[in-house]
Amino acid sequence: MARIIAGVSSSHVPAIGAAIDNKRTEEPYWKRVFSGFETSKEWMAKAKPDVAIVVYNDHASAFSVEIIPTFALGCAAEFPPADEGWGPRPVPVVKGHPELASHIAQSVILDEFDITVVNKMEVDHGLTVPLNLLFGSPKEWPCPVIPLAVNVVMYPPPTGHRCFMLGKAIRKAVESFPEDLRVVIFGTGGMSHQISGPRAGLINSKFDKAFLDNLTKDPKKLTRIPHLEYMREAGAEGIEMVMWLIMRGALDDKVEEVYRFYTVPASNTAVGHIILENRGRAAPGKRAAATKGKRRVATKRRAAAHRSNLPAIRRG
Ligand SMILES: [Fe+2]
Repeated sequence: MARIIAGVSSSHVPAIGAAIDNKRTEEPYWKRVFSGFETSKEWMAKAKPDVAIVVYNDHASAFSVEIIPTFALGCAAEFPPADEGWGPRPVPVVKGHPELASHIAQSVILDEFDITVVNKMEVDHGLTVPLNLLFGSPKEWPCPVIPLAVNVVMYPPPTGHRCFMLGKAIRKAVESFPEDLRVVIFGTGGMSHQISGPRAGLINSKFDKAFLDNLTKDPKKLTRIPHLEYMREAGAEGIEMVMWLIMRGALDDKVEEVYRFYTVPASNTAVGHIILENRGRAAPGKRAAATKGKRRVATKRRAAAHRSNLPAIRRG
């Protein structure tokens, strides 16, 4: 079966993408930010996930104010980078995993999470910047990616509790997928920041660090934070942090925090990042090669059987 081996959270500041694209990563201001992800890239290179689920928000790139899905799951075979005003970012086209994505859609909808199935979508910095931070700048992304876009730009966004419970439903869905896949789930956005109004530039490191602590140790406490508290303490755009709770809900109750990084400021925001591993998982890169061949044969048989039962929504 497929399983979630770890969760990764990171900010998705657009200026980080611009710094990469314009080759400014060695400038002192940006080096401070990028140096915090060197360990993470090494961890990811060892973890070698088969699939990444990336929870992020669209910034009026794929969805305008005409259509605002609360949860939109990308079930397409590929997702091109969006033109956010300066042309599409020079990053690889994101390849999806339609089979796992449509399986997740079926499972969570039958679990009463009424997500939107998206069969065509461009992805913006909310998704591509975290991929750069964890995978670097390769010619092709090293694994398929399933985008899960969450509305946090127009009122009302989902509650933290709803996000956490959706994470649990996604885990259940992944674990009922017959193919033997190792999945990493990303929660992106945040941390504290406000980009307009009299409080523009707000950063609340105390709130952010307590959030990181509780993300590891007491995520249920975080699920009780109301929207107004995010807005008041972490700024209007701090509400993006509810997306981290989808990632956390998909993990074990008790997790191992393997890495954390926090720095301010980056483009007037607080950059936060954490890697949490499920304790029951095999260590990165230590998949037993001897059993791999046998598993693949069995997996292929199960996957072939599964393909013939894919839900109609995938083909629509
Ligand atoms: Fe954002």
